[in-house]
Amino acid sequence: MTKFYTTTAIDYVNGAPHIGHAYEKILTDVIYRHFTQRCEDAYFLTGTDEHGIKIQKTAAEKGISPKEFCDMNAQKFKDAWKALDIDYSQFIRTTDEQHEKIVQKIFKKLVEKGDIYKHSYTGLYCSGCEAFLSEKDLTEDGLCPDHQKKPEVVEEENYFFKLTKYKDAIIKHIKTNPDFIVPSFRANEVINQLEDIEDISVSRVKTNVNWGIPVLDDPEQVIYVWIDALSNYITAIGYDPDGNSDKFEKLWPADVQVIGKDILKFHSIYWIAILMALELPLPKHILAHGWITIDQTKMSKSLGNVISPTAVLEAFNLDIPDPLRYYMASAAPCGKDGNYSDEDFKEKVNAHLANSMGNLLNRTLSMLVKYFDGDIKPEFLNKNELEKQALETVKAVKHHFDYFEVQEAAQKIIELVDITNKYVTDNAPWTLAKEEKMDKCGEVLTNVLQVMTVISSLIYPYCPNIASRMAEQLGYDLDIKLDDINCRYLKAGHLINKDDIKPVFLRMDSELADKKK
Ligand code: ME8
Ligand code: MG
Repeated sequence: MTKFYTTTAIDYVNGAPHIGHAYEKILTDVIYRHFTQRCEDAYFLTGTDEHGIKIQKTAAEKGISPKEFCDMNAQKFKDAWKALDIDYSQFIRTTDEQHEKIVQKIFKKLVEKGDIYKHSYTGLYCSGCEAFLSEKDLTEDGLCPDHQKKPEVVEEENYFFKLTKYKDAIIKHIKTNPDFIVPSFRANEVINQLEDIEDISVSRVKTNVNWGIPVLDDPEQVIYVWIDALSNYITAIGYDPDGNSDKFEKLWPADVQVIGKDILKFHSIYWIAILMALELPLPKHILAHGWITIDQTKMSKSLGNVISPTAVLEAFNLDIPDPLRYYMASAAPCGKDGNYSDEDFKEKVNAHLANSMGNLLNRTLSMLVKYFDGDIKPEFLNKNELEKQALETVKAVKHHFDYFEVQEAAQKIIELVDITNKYVTDNAPWTLAKEEKMDKCGEVLTNVLQVMTVISSLIYPYCPNIASRMAEQLGYDLDIKLDDINCRYLKAGHLINKDDIKPVFLRMDSELADKKK
C-alpha cells in the first residue's frame, strides 16, 4: 500500500461542534492514524461547509456578515479538533477562494457537457435540510420529517443536474462492488433510493439565496449545496478541469470517505454521479457511520442535550483527549448507532485504559525495577511465548481496519491486554522471585514488556498520547510500521528508571468530575 486518502463530511458551521461531529472526526482520525502505520503517504481531509440559506439567515439575525459568522464558527471546529488531537492533513472551508474557483469551473464543465441544464421548477424546499423534498418525503401533516416544519413552495428557474443519466451506471457499480458501501447492509437502501430518483436542482436564484458561489456565466444564479459541498473532496487536493496537481494525481481516488448515515444518499448517489460526469475514478469505499445518541436519546437543541466534546474533556478534568477518543471510537459496531453516557464513559475507560492496560505496564515495570534494578538483560530476550498471540492480534487488527471496523479492532487489542494480564497472574513473577527462580522471573517480565511494545503501537491510533507515554517508558520507537512489528524491539540494556515509571493514564475521578460539572 503506497497511499491512503481519507475524508470526513464537512460540517455546517451553523453552530458549535457536538459529539456527533466529534465521533465522525475521531473515527476517521483513528482510521487515518492506523494507515499511517501501514503506508508512506496517508492523507486526511476535513473541513467546514459554509454556504447556504441557513447560514445567511443566522448571520443576518446576529447582525454580522455571513463571512464573519463562518470565520467565527469554523474556528470553533478547528479548536475542538485540536483539543481532540485530530491530526488532519488539511482543513478545507467551502469559502476558500481556490475551492470557489474550481467549483465554478466544475459547474461550467458540466454545463458544457450537457449534464447541467436550466429548467423552471416548482418545488417544496426545506431550509433545515437545504434541499427540495418530494411529496412522499413528507409526514402525513405535510411536514419535513427531520425538521417538523412545513417546506416552502419555491418557484424558480434553476440549473438541474442530470442525475437520471447515471442511474443505471450507479446501480451497476454498487452491485458489482459489494464492499463499496460500508457496511454492506446499507447498499440495498441506496439501490431502493435509486429506483425513483429524478434530476436535482443545483442552483438557486440569487435573490433567494445569495450566500453561495455564483455561476460563472450567469451570476444571477448561485451554485447551491451539493456541487459546492461534495466537490470539496477533490478541490482541496488540486483537482482542476484545466489540469490537475500532482497531489491530486497521487491521492485520488479516495480510499475511504467517512460520513453519517443521514447523508449516504448524497454520497453514494449524487457524488458518484458528479464524479462519473467529470469522468473521474470513484472512491473505493463510502463508510456510513451510525448516530450518536445521548443517554439513548437523539441530540437536539430543543431537548437541550447537545454535548460539546471539549465540555466533556473539561468536566472530567482530562489533560489528554485519549479517553474520549477511545470511548467514542469504540462506541458502536461499524455502521451502527452508538450512545454516549457519562457513567459508561467513565466505567469503560477506567476499566480498559487504567485498570487493564495502564496497570499492566506499571506493575511490570515496577517489578523489573524491584527485582532487576530495571535492567532488561539480553538473556531474558529469548523466545517469547506470547509473541504468536501478539502477532495474531496485529493481523486481526489490520484485517478489521481493512473493513473499517474500528470498534472491533479495539476489542482485539483489549483482548491481547487481557491475555497478557492473565499470563502475569498465571506465572506470578512475584512468587518466582520469592522462590529465587530469577531467570524465569526475568523472562516473564520481559515477555510482558515485549508485548506491551506491540500494544502501544496498536493502541496508538486511538490513544496517541498514552501510546507515546508507554513507548517512552519502554524505550520503544512508535514509528515502526505495522508490517514490521514483532516482539523483538525491546532493547537489552535499556535501563528502566524507577523515577520514570508513571501511570500512563490515571483513573477518572468521578467525584472530581461531578464537582467540576
Ligand atoms: O450534513 N451522530 O453537515 P452536518 C453521528 N454539511 N454523526 C452525526 C451526528 C450524530 N448525532 N450529527 C451529525 C452536513 N453527524 C453537510 C455535509 S459533506 C460534503 C456535507 C454527522 O454538520 C453527519 O452525519 O449536518 C455528517 O456526516 C456530519 O456529522 C456533518 O453533519
Ligand atoms: Mg446534519
